[in-house]
Amino acid sequence: MDVKTQHTAAVGAVSPAKAAEVAALERCPIMGSYGAPSVMFVKGQGSRLWDSFGRQYLDFLSGLAVTSLGHAHPQVAQAIAEQAAKLSHVSNLFATEHNGDVALAIDRLLGGGGQVFFCNSGAEANEAAIKLARRWAGHGRFGVICAFRSFHGRTLATLRATGQPEKHEPFVPLPEGFRHVPYGDLEELERAADETTAAVLLEPILGEGGVLEPPAGFLQAVREFCDERQLLLIFDEVQTGFARTGNWFAHQYDGVQPDVVTMAKALGNGMPIGACWARAEVAAAFRPGDHATTFGGQPLATAAAKAVLAVMEEMDAPAVARQKGALLRDKLESFEAVSQVRGRGLLLASELSPEALCEGKITAAQVAARCLQAGQEGSGQDKAGQGRVGQNGTSEERLGLVVNAVTPTAIRWAPPLVVSEDEITQAVELFQTALKVEQELAAASPASPSGPASPGQSN
Ligand SMILES: Cc1ncc(COP(=O)(O)O)c(C=O)c1O
Repeated sequence: MDVKTQHTAAVGAVSPAKAAEVAALERCPIMGSYGAPSVMFVKGQGSRLWDSFGRQYLDFLSGLAVTSLGHAHPQVAQAIAEQAAKLSHVSNLFATEHNGDVALAIDRLLGGGGQVFFCNSGAEANEAAIKLARRWAGHGRFGVICAFRSFHGRTLATLRATGQPEKHEPFVPLPEGFRHVPYGDLEELERAADETTAAVLLEPILGEGGVLEPPAGFLQAVREFCDERQLLLIFDEVQTGFARTGNWFAHQYDGVQPDVVTMAKALGNGMPIGACWARAEVAAAFRPGDHATTFGGQPLATAAAKAVLAVMEEMDAPAVARQKGALLRDKLESFEAVSQVRGRGLLLASELSPEALCEGKITAAQVAARCLQAGQEGSGQDKAGQGRVGQNGTSEERLGLVVNAVTPTAIRWAPPLVVSEDEITQAVELFQTALKVEQELAAASPASPSGPASPGQSN
Protein backbone atom coordinates (compact mmCIF):
# COMPACT_ATOMS: atom_id res chain seq x y z
CA MET A 1 0.00 0.00 0.00
CA ASP A 2 1.51 3.36 -0.90
CA VAL A 3 1.55 6.25 1.52
CA LYS A 4 -1.44 8.01 -0.07
CA THR A 5 -3.61 4.90 0.04
CA GLN A 6 -2.49 4.16 3.57
CA HIS A 7 -3.34 7.66 4.71
CA THR A 8 -6.65 7.44 2.90
CA ALA A 9 -7.42 4.07 4.51
CA ALA A 10 -6.60 5.38 7.93
CA VAL A 11 -8.16 8.78 7.58
CA GLY A 12 -11.40 7.89 9.33
CA ALA A 13 -9.43 6.94 12.44
CA VAL A 14 -7.22 10.01 12.61
CA SER A 15 -7.53 13.65 13.56
CA PRO A 16 -8.61 16.51 11.29
CA ALA A 17 -4.93 17.50 11.15
CA LYS A 18 -4.09 14.10 9.69
CA ALA A 19 -6.96 14.42 7.21
CA ALA A 20 -5.46 17.72 6.08
CA GLU A 21 -2.09 15.98 5.70
CA VAL A 22 -3.70 13.36 3.48
CA ALA A 23 -5.30 16.00 1.32
CA ALA A 24 -2.01 17.89 1.04
CA LEU A 25 -0.16 14.72 0.10
CA GLU A 26 -2.58 13.95 -2.67
CA ARG A 27 -1.98 17.36 -4.20
CA CYS A 28 1.83 17.06 -4.10
CA PRO A 29 3.38 17.77 -7.50
CA ILE A 30 6.38 15.49 -6.95
CA MET A 31 7.98 13.74 -9.94
CA GLY A 32 7.64 10.01 -10.03
CA SER A 33 11.34 9.12 -10.21
CA TYR A 34 11.32 7.34 -6.83
CA GLY A 35 8.14 5.30 -7.02
CA ALA A 36 5.42 5.52 -4.39
CA PRO A 37 6.74 5.64 -0.81
CA SER A 38 4.96 3.40 1.67
CA VAL A 39 5.61 5.41 4.84
CA MET A 40 6.03 9.06 5.79
CA PHE A 41 8.56 9.50 8.58
CA VAL A 42 8.19 12.53 10.79
CA LYS A 43 10.56 12.01 13.70
CA GLY A 44 13.76 10.19 14.56
CA GLN A 45 15.85 9.56 17.67
CA GLY A 46 18.99 7.42 17.66
CA SER A 47 18.13 4.17 15.88
CA ARG A 48 14.37 4.82 16.00
CA LEU A 49 11.96 6.42 13.54
CA TRP A 50 8.31 7.39 13.93
CA ASP A 51 5.86 7.66 11.06
CA SER A 52 3.05 10.15 10.62
CA PHE A 53 0.71 7.84 12.55
CA GLY A 54 3.08 7.66 15.51
CA ARG A 55 4.21 4.12 14.70
CA GLN A 56 7.74 3.17 15.64
CA TYR A 57 10.50 1.57 13.57
CA LEU A 58 14.07 0.44 14.06
CA ASP A 59 16.15 2.14 11.40
CA PHE A 60 18.75 -0.32 10.09
CA LEU A 61 19.20 1.54 6.81
CA SER A 62 20.23 4.96 8.19
CA GLY A 63 18.84 6.79 5.18
CA LEU A 64 21.14 4.74 2.90
CA ALA A 65 24.19 4.79 5.18
CA VAL A 66 23.91 8.48 6.03
CA THR A 67 22.79 8.93 9.66
CA SER A 68 25.69 7.03 11.20
CA LEU A 69 25.35 8.87 14.50
CA GLY A 70 21.62 8.17 14.62
CA HIS A 71 18.73 10.57 14.21
CA ALA A 72 18.71 13.91 16.01
CA HIS A 73 22.16 13.44 17.54
CA PRO A 74 22.29 16.16 20.23
CA GLN A 75 25.73 17.56 19.37
CA VAL A 76 25.03 17.62 15.65
CA ALA A 77 21.56 19.10 16.12
CA GLN A 78 22.98 21.78 18.41
CA ALA A 79 25.74 22.67 15.96
CA ILE A 80 23.20 23.04 13.13
CA ALA A 81 20.78 25.07 15.27
CA GLU A 82 23.50 27.42 16.50
CA GLN A 83 24.85 27.91 13.01
CA ALA A 84 21.36 28.46 11.56
CA ALA A 85 20.82 31.23 14.06
CA LYS A 86 24.14 32.82 13.10
CA LEU A 87 24.95 32.46 9.38
CA SER A 88 23.70 29.92 6.86
CA HIS A 89 25.13 30.99 3.52
CA VAL A 90 27.44 33.49 1.83
CA SER A 91 28.82 31.47 -1.17
CA ASN A 92 32.37 30.40 -1.90
CA LEU A 93 33.32 33.94 -2.88
CA PHE A 94 34.08 34.27 0.83
CA ALA A 95 35.65 32.18 3.56
CA THR A 96 33.44 30.71 6.27
CA GLU A 97 34.12 29.44 9.72
CA HIS A 98 34.22 25.64 9.67
CA ASN A 99 35.34 24.40 6.29
CA GLY A 100 39.03 24.72 7.14
CA ASP A 101 38.54 22.57 10.26
CA VAL A 102 36.54 19.96 8.38
CA ALA A 103 39.10 19.84 5.55
CA LEU A 104 41.91 19.42 8.10
CA ALA A 105 40.05 16.58 9.85
CA ILE A 106 39.35 14.76 6.56
CA ASP A 107 42.95 15.17 5.49
CA ARG A 108 44.19 13.83 8.83
CA LEU A 109 41.89 10.78 8.63
CA LEU A 110 43.29 10.08 5.16
CA GLY A 111 46.91 10.29 6.28
CA GLY A 112 47.64 13.92 5.39
CA GLY A 113 49.20 15.72 2.44
CA GLY A 114 45.97 16.44 0.59
CA GLN A 115 43.39 19.11 -0.14
CA VAL A 116 39.60 19.07 -0.16
CA PHE A 117 36.88 20.37 -2.49
CA PHE A 118 33.45 20.59 -0.82
CA CYS A 119 30.19 19.88 -2.61
CA ASN A 120 26.70 18.68 -1.77
CA SER A 121 26.39 14.99 -2.65
CA GLY A 122 28.18 11.83 -3.61
CA ALA A 123 27.58 12.30 -7.31
CA GLU A 124 29.05 15.80 -7.14
CA ALA A 125 32.10 14.51 -5.27
CA ASN A 126 32.66 12.01 -8.10
CA GLU A 127 32.06 14.66 -10.76
CA ALA A 128 34.76 16.73 -9.09
CA ALA A 129 37.11 13.73 -9.08
CA ILE A 130 36.49 12.99 -12.77
CA LYS A 131 37.05 16.61 -13.77
CA LEU A 132 40.16 16.77 -11.59
CA ALA A 133 41.55 13.60 -13.22
CA ARG A 134 41.02 15.09 -16.69
CA ARG A 135 42.59 18.40 -15.67
CA TRP A 136 45.54 16.62 -14.07
CA ALA A 137 46.15 14.28 -17.02
CA GLY A 138 45.83 16.98 -19.69
CA HIS A 139 44.13 17.01 -23.08
CA GLY A 140 43.92 13.65 -24.78
CA ARG A 141 43.94 11.71 -21.51
CA PHE A 142 40.38 11.63 -20.28
CA GLY A 143 39.54 7.94 -19.83
CA VAL A 144 38.34 6.47 -16.55
CA ILE A 145 38.24 2.73 -15.87
CA CYS A 146 35.41 1.65 -13.58
CA ALA A 147 33.87 -1.63 -12.45
CA PHE A 148 30.72 -3.42 -13.50
CA ARG A 149 28.13 -3.38 -10.68
CA SER A 150 29.59 -0.14 -9.34
CA PHE A 151 27.47 2.85 -8.41
CA HIS A 152 28.84 6.38 -8.64
CA GLY A 153 25.79 8.62 -8.97
CA ARG A 154 23.01 9.86 -11.25
CA THR A 155 24.47 12.91 -12.99
CA LEU A 156 25.38 12.23 -16.62
CA ALA A 157 29.09 11.56 -16.04
CA THR A 158 28.67 9.61 -12.80
CA LEU A 159 25.83 7.61 -14.36
CA ARG A 160 28.21 6.77 -17.20
CA ALA A 161 30.84 5.75 -14.63
CA THR A 162 28.28 3.54 -12.90
CA GLY A 163 28.74 -0.02 -14.07
CA GLN A 164 25.08 -0.82 -14.64
CA PRO A 165 24.43 -0.48 -18.39
CA GLU A 166 20.66 -0.89 -17.96
CA LYS A 167 20.62 2.45 -16.13
CA HIS A 168 22.42 4.16 -19.05
CA GLU A 169 20.14 3.14 -21.86
CA PRO A 170 17.30 5.71 -21.47
CA PHE A 171 19.76 8.62 -21.28
CA VAL A 172 22.18 8.07 -24.15
CA PRO A 173 24.29 9.73 -25.40
CA LEU A 174 26.30 9.92 -22.18
CA PRO A 175 29.80 11.43 -21.75
CA GLU A 176 32.60 9.48 -23.43
CA GLY A 177 35.68 7.96 -21.93
CA PHE A 178 34.40 5.40 -19.44
CA ARG A 179 35.23 1.69 -19.59
CA HIS A 180 34.02 -1.06 -17.31
CA VAL A 181 35.73 -4.25 -16.17
CA PRO A 182 34.60 -6.98 -13.76
CA TYR A 183 35.31 -5.91 -10.16
CA GLY A 184 38.40 -7.73 -8.96
CA ASP A 185 39.73 -8.69 -12.40
CA LEU A 186 43.19 -7.14 -12.65
CA GLU A 187 43.97 -8.51 -16.10
CA GLU A 188 40.82 -7.04 -17.61
CA LEU A 189 41.57 -3.75 -15.91
CA GLU A 190 45.08 -3.70 -17.36
CA ARG A 191 43.72 -4.51 -20.81
CA ALA A 192 41.19 -1.67 -20.57
CA ALA A 193 43.92 0.97 -20.14
CA ASP A 194 45.37 2.78 -23.14
CA GLU A 195 47.09 6.09 -23.91
CA THR A 196 43.80 7.97 -23.34
CA THR A 197 43.33 6.66 -19.80
CA ALA A 198 43.66 9.11 -16.92
CA ALA A 199 42.32 7.25 -13.90
CA VAL A 200 40.85 4.17 -12.28
CA LEU A 201 37.72 4.78 -10.20
CA LEU A 202 36.68 2.05 -7.75
CA GLU A 203 34.57 1.55 -4.66
CA PRO A 204 36.65 -0.24 -2.01
CA ILE A 205 33.49 -2.26 -1.28
CA LEU A 206 30.76 -2.38 -3.94
CA GLY A 207 27.84 -0.96 -1.95
CA GLU A 208 24.83 -0.71 -4.26
CA GLY A 209 26.25 -3.64 -6.25
CA GLY A 210 25.44 -5.96 -3.33
CA VAL A 211 28.01 -5.13 -0.60
CA LEU A 212 30.84 -7.01 -2.29
CA GLU A 213 34.37 -6.85 -0.92
CA PRO A 214 37.39 -6.71 -3.22
CA PRO A 215 39.40 -9.92 -3.60
CA ALA A 216 42.48 -9.98 -1.34
CA GLY A 217 45.34 -8.00 -2.83
CA PHE A 218 43.25 -6.51 -5.66
CA LEU A 219 43.34 -2.87 -4.56
CA GLN A 220 47.06 -3.12 -3.87
CA ALA A 221 47.67 -4.56 -7.35
CA VAL A 222 45.58 -1.78 -8.92
CA ARG A 223 47.72 0.75 -7.04
CA GLU A 224 50.89 -0.77 -8.49
CA PHE A 225 49.41 -0.76 -11.99
CA CYS A 226 48.35 2.90 -11.64
CA ASP A 227 51.88 3.78 -10.52
CA GLU A 228 53.40 1.98 -13.51
CA ARG A 229 51.10 3.70 -15.99
CA GLN A 230 50.87 7.04 -14.18
CA LEU A 231 47.13 6.81 -13.69
CA LEU A 232 45.24 8.32 -10.79
CA LEU A 233 43.68 5.88 -8.35
CA ILE A 234 40.34 7.27 -7.17
CA PHE A 235 38.39 5.55 -4.41
CA ASP A 236 34.69 6.26 -4.17
CA GLU A 237 34.07 6.13 -0.40
CA VAL A 238 30.69 7.86 -0.62
CA GLN A 239 28.95 4.92 1.06
CA THR A 240 31.86 3.36 2.92
CA GLY A 241 33.56 6.47 4.34
CA PHE A 242 33.57 7.71 7.94
CA ALA A 243 33.86 4.53 9.96
CA ARG A 244 30.89 2.58 8.63
CA THR A 245 33.02 -0.39 7.60
CA GLY A 246 35.14 -0.41 10.76
CA ASN A 247 37.94 1.78 9.42
CA TRP A 248 37.75 5.51 8.78
CA PHE A 249 37.80 4.61 5.09
CA ALA A 250 37.30 1.12 3.69
CA HIS A 251 40.43 1.21 1.51
CA GLN A 252 42.49 1.45 4.69
CA TYR A 253 41.86 -2.29 5.20
CA ASP A 254 44.08 -2.86 2.18
CA GLY A 255 46.87 -0.46 3.21
CA VAL A 256 46.63 1.32 -0.14
CA GLN A 257 47.32 5.03 -0.58
CA PRO A 258 44.91 6.53 -3.15
CA ASP A 259 45.40 9.75 -5.12
CA VAL A 260 41.80 10.89 -4.80
CA VAL A 261 38.99 9.92 -2.40
CA THR A 262 35.35 10.94 -2.71
CA MET A 263 32.94 10.97 0.22
CA ALA A 264 29.53 12.25 1.26
CA LYS A 265 26.73 10.35 3.06
CA ALA A 266 27.85 10.07 6.72
CA LEU A 267 29.88 13.28 6.71
CA GLY A 268 26.87 15.46 7.55
CA ASN A 269 24.75 12.82 9.35
CA GLY A 270 21.89 13.99 7.14
CA MET A 271 22.98 17.50 6.23
CA PRO A 272 23.83 17.38 2.52
CA ILE A 273 27.60 17.60 2.13
CA GLY A 274 30.10 15.82 -0.08
CA ALA A 275 33.83 16.16 -0.52
CA CYS A 276 36.58 15.24 -2.94
CA TRP A 277 40.02 14.87 -1.35
CA ALA A 278 43.16 14.67 -3.49
CA ARG A 279 46.91 14.49 -2.88
CA ALA A 280 48.17 18.07 -2.96
CA GLU A 281 50.09 17.63 -6.25
CA VAL A 282 46.94 16.30 -7.92
CA ALA A 283 44.67 18.90 -6.32
CA ALA A 284 46.97 21.60 -7.71
CA ALA A 285 45.67 20.78 -11.20
CA PHE A 286 42.50 22.75 -10.41
CA ARG A 287 42.96 26.45 -11.07
CA PRO A 288 40.57 29.21 -9.96
CA GLY A 289 37.42 28.93 -12.06
CA ASP A 290 37.89 25.27 -13.02
CA HIS A 291 35.26 23.95 -10.66
CA ALA A 292 32.70 25.42 -8.30
CA THR A 293 29.32 25.00 -6.64
CA THR A 294 27.16 27.63 -4.96
CA PHE A 295 26.36 25.66 -1.84
CA GLY A 296 29.47 23.46 -1.45
CA GLY A 297 30.94 23.67 2.04
CA GLN A 298 28.34 26.18 3.22
CA PRO A 299 28.30 26.91 6.96
CA LEU A 300 25.28 24.79 7.97
CA ALA A 301 26.71 21.71 6.29
CA THR A 302 30.23 22.23 7.59
CA ALA A 303 28.99 22.99 11.11
CA ALA A 304 27.23 19.61 11.02
CA ALA A 305 30.28 17.86 9.55
CA LYS A 306 32.60 19.36 12.16
CA ALA A 307 30.33 18.09 14.94
CA VAL A 308 30.00 14.66 13.26
CA LEU A 309 33.77 14.23 12.99
CA ALA A 310 34.32 15.39 16.59
CA VAL A 311 31.73 12.92 17.92
CA MET A 312 33.06 10.10 15.76
CA GLU A 313 36.65 10.66 16.89
CA GLU A 314 35.58 10.92 20.53
CA MET A 315 33.67 7.62 20.41
CA ASP A 316 36.30 5.85 18.26
CA ALA A 317 33.69 5.19 15.61
CA PRO A 318 35.70 2.60 13.63
CA ALA A 319 36.07 0.41 16.75
CA VAL A 320 32.36 0.75 17.50
CA ALA A 321 31.43 -0.26 13.93
CA ARG A 322 33.73 -3.28 14.13
CA GLN A 323 32.38 -4.44 17.49
CA LYS A 324 28.67 -3.97 16.70
CA GLY A 325 29.16 -5.24 13.17
CA ALA A 326 30.63 -8.47 14.55
CA LEU A 327 27.54 -8.91 16.73
CA LEU A 328 25.12 -8.29 13.85
CA ARG A 329 27.12 -10.61 11.61
CA ASP A 330 27.05 -13.38 14.25
CA LYS A 331 23.28 -13.12 14.60
CA LEU A 332 22.71 -13.13 10.85
CA GLU A 333 25.10 -16.02 10.30
CA SER A 334 23.32 -18.13 12.88
CA PHE A 335 20.02 -17.80 10.96
CA GLU A 336 19.79 -20.81 8.68
CA ALA A 337 17.92 -18.90 5.95
CA VAL A 338 21.02 -16.75 5.44
CA SER A 339 23.52 -18.45 3.16
CA GLN A 340 26.18 -15.73 3.30
CA VAL A 341 26.93 -12.50 5.14
CA ARG A 342 29.06 -10.02 3.20
CA GLY A 343 30.64 -6.69 4.04
CA ARG A 344 32.56 -5.13 6.90
CA GLY A 345 31.74 -3.35 10.13
CA LEU A 346 28.18 -2.06 10.01
CA LEU A 347 27.80 -2.32 6.24
CA LEU A 348 26.57 -5.87 5.73
CA ALA A 349 24.41 -7.81 3.30
CA SER A 350 22.67 -11.05 4.20
CA GLU A 351 22.16 -13.33 1.21
CA LEU A 352 18.98 -15.38 1.51
CA SER A 353 19.24 -18.97 0.35
CA PRO A 354 17.11 -20.17 -2.58
CA GLU A 355 15.15 -22.42 -0.17
CA ALA A 356 14.49 -19.46 2.14
CA LEU A 357 13.18 -17.50 -0.85
CA CYS A 358 10.95 -20.47 -1.78
CA GLU A 359 12.92 -21.02 -4.99
CA GLY A 360 12.18 -17.58 -6.40
CA LYS A 361 8.63 -17.08 -5.16
CA ILE A 362 9.80 -14.42 -2.71
CA THR A 363 12.23 -11.57 -3.27
CA ALA A 364 14.41 -9.82 -0.73
CA ALA A 365 12.48 -6.63 -1.53
CA GLN A 366 9.29 -8.30 -0.34
CA VAL A 367 10.98 -9.37 2.88
CA ALA A 368 12.22 -5.79 3.41
CA ALA A 369 8.73 -4.44 2.78
CA ARG A 370 7.30 -6.96 5.24
CA CYS A 371 9.86 -5.84 7.87
CA LEU A 372 8.64 -2.27 7.39
CA GLN A 373 5.01 -3.29 7.58
CA ALA A 374 5.64 -5.05 10.88
CA GLY A 375 5.17 -1.70 12.59
CA GLN A 376 1.98 -0.85 10.80
CA GLU A 377 -1.09 -1.68 12.81
CA GLY A 378 -4.16 -1.85 10.58
CA SER A 379 -2.14 -2.29 7.41
CA GLY A 380 -4.78 -4.62 6.06
CA GLN A 381 -3.28 -8.07 6.46
CA ASP A 382 -3.38 -9.87 9.78
CA LYS A 383 -0.28 -11.85 9.00
CA ALA A 384 1.60 -8.66 8.32
CA GLY A 385 0.95 -7.24 11.78
CA GLN A 386 3.67 -9.39 13.26
CA GLY A 387 5.58 -6.50 14.76
CA ARG A 388 6.85 -6.65 18.28
CA VAL A 389 4.20 -5.72 20.82
CA GLY A 390 5.35 -3.77 23.84
CA GLN A 391 5.10 -4.86 27.46
CA ASN A 392 1.65 -3.39 27.93
CA GLY A 393 0.53 -5.04 24.70
CA THR A 394 -0.50 -1.82 22.95
CA SER A 395 -0.38 -1.59 19.21
CA GLU A 396 1.45 1.76 19.54
CA GLU A 397 4.47 -0.25 20.63
CA ARG A 398 4.52 -2.42 17.55
CA LEU A 399 7.92 -2.10 15.97
CA GLY A 400 8.76 -2.10 12.29
CA LEU A 401 12.19 -2.52 10.77
CA VAL A 402 13.71 -0.38 8.05
CA VAL A 403 16.13 -2.31 5.84
CA ASN A 404 16.39 -2.57 2.08
CA ALA A 405 17.02 -5.16 -0.56
CA VAL A 406 20.38 -4.41 -2.11
CA THR A 407 19.87 -7.21 -4.69
CA PRO A 408 16.83 -9.40 -5.41
CA THR A 409 18.23 -11.97 -2.96
CA ALA A 410 20.07 -9.91 -0.33
CA ILE A 411 19.11 -7.52 2.46
CA ARG A 412 21.46 -4.63 3.29
CA TRP A 413 22.12 -3.79 6.94
CA ALA A 414 23.46 -0.33 7.72
CA PRO A 415 22.25 0.64 11.20
CA PRO A 416 23.60 3.73 12.93
CA LEU A 417 26.76 3.25 14.95
CA VAL A 418 24.79 4.19 18.08
CA VAL A 419 22.57 1.11 17.74
CA SER A 420 22.32 -0.95 20.94
CA GLU A 421 22.95 -4.67 21.28
CA ASP A 422 19.29 -5.15 22.21
CA GLU A 423 18.20 -3.33 19.06
CA ILE A 424 20.43 -5.58 16.96
CA THR A 425 18.75 -8.61 18.54
CA GLN A 426 15.28 -7.14 17.96
CA ALA A 427 16.05 -6.28 14.35
CA VAL A 428 17.23 -9.78 13.49
CA GLU A 429 14.12 -11.24 15.17
CA LEU A 430 11.88 -8.92 13.15
CA PHE A 431 13.70 -9.97 9.98
CA GLN A 432 13.22 -13.65 10.83
CA THR A 433 9.50 -13.14 11.50
CA ALA A 434 9.01 -11.13 8.31
CA LEU A 435 10.68 -13.86 6.26
CA LYS A 436 8.48 -16.47 7.91
CA VAL A 437 5.34 -14.47 7.09
CA GLU A 438 6.42 -14.17 3.45
CA GLN A 439 7.17 -17.89 3.29
CA GLU A 440 3.71 -18.72 4.68
CA LEU A 441 2.04 -16.39 2.20
CA ALA A 442 4.04 -17.90 -0.66
CA ALA A 443 3.06 -21.40 0.47
CA ALA A 444 -0.60 -20.36 0.57
CA SER A 445 -0.55 -18.91 -2.96
CA PRO A 446 1.99 -21.00 -4.83
CA ALA A 447 1.53 -19.34 -8.21
CA SER A 448 2.02 -15.67 -7.43
CA PRO A 449 5.07 -13.93 -6.00
CA SER A 450 2.99 -11.65 -3.79
CA GLY A 451 3.89 -9.13 -1.17
CA PRO A 452 3.72 -5.54 -0.06
CA ALA A 453 5.11 -2.66 -2.07
CA SER A 454 8.86 -2.90 -2.29
CA PRO A 455 11.35 -0.49 -0.73
CA GLY A 456 14.10 -2.35 -2.60
CA GLN A 457 15.11 0.34 -5.06
CA SER A 458 17.69 2.45 -3.33
CA ASN A 459 19.51 4.57 -5.86
C1 LIG B 1 29.45 4.51 -3.78
C2 LIG B 1 28.50 5.62 -4.12
N1 LIG B 1 28.94 6.62 -4.88
C3 LIG B 1 28.14 7.65 -5.20
C4 LIG B 1 26.84 7.70 -4.77
C5 LIG B 1 25.95 8.86 -5.16
O1 LIG B 1 25.73 9.66 -4.06
P1 LIG B 1 24.54 10.72 -4.07
O2 LIG B 1 23.28 9.94 -4.10
O3 LIG B 1 24.74 11.49 -2.80
O4 LIG B 1 24.71 11.56 -5.27
C6 LIG B 1 26.34 6.67 -3.97
C7 LIG B 1 24.95 6.67 -3.51
O5 LIG B 1 24.43 5.68 -3.05
C8 LIG B 1 27.20 5.60 -3.63
O6 LIG B 1 26.78 4.58 -2.87
